[in-house]
Amino acid sequence: MQKKGKTVTKRKKILILHGPNLNMLGKREKTVYGKTTLEKINNELKILAKKLNVELKINQSNIEGELVNIIQKASKDRTNGILINPAAYTHTSVAIRDALLAVKLPVVEIHLSNIYKREEFRHKSLTASVAIGQITGFGKDSYLLGLEALVKNC
Ligand code: DQA
Repeated sequence: MQKKGKTVTKRKKILILHGPNLNMLGKREKTVYGKTTLEKINNELKILAKKLNVELKINQSNIEGELVNIIQKASKDRTNGILINPAAYTHTSVAIRDALLAVKLPVVEIHLSNIYKREEFRHKSLTASVAIGQITGFGKDSYLLGLEALVKNC
């Protein structure tokens, strides 16, 4: 955007997408996911976003099709990148993978737990191969590291 000869750079807009059951953080399998609630994670992300001077749009859904709709919408509202924890859909959802590919936006996939240290069915991610990279196993810090990595790469 040009304004009286000065270049005004628009803030990057990042979509944060939390998949199914992440609304239960703090109550759910605390030994695996910790005591932190989703609200606390979102608050930390907002604080980091301020420091990085980026705008966040945060969504959580337990429904696969809703996640697909949110991803599709991101291509129409000048979103620059997507930080996603697809949760259980990581391991099953061709639809979410296809949606991420379709919108052609840079994606970073994150997980609270180290999915490669857990049951074998969690070792496969359908979404990782359409992402720039994956961060897994650092608890809530996975989100914060993921946001920094995404902002540098989108
Ligand atoms: C998760 C790992 C997934 O395997 C699991 O289904 C989740 C959370 C994580 O953040 O560690 O719900 O994505």
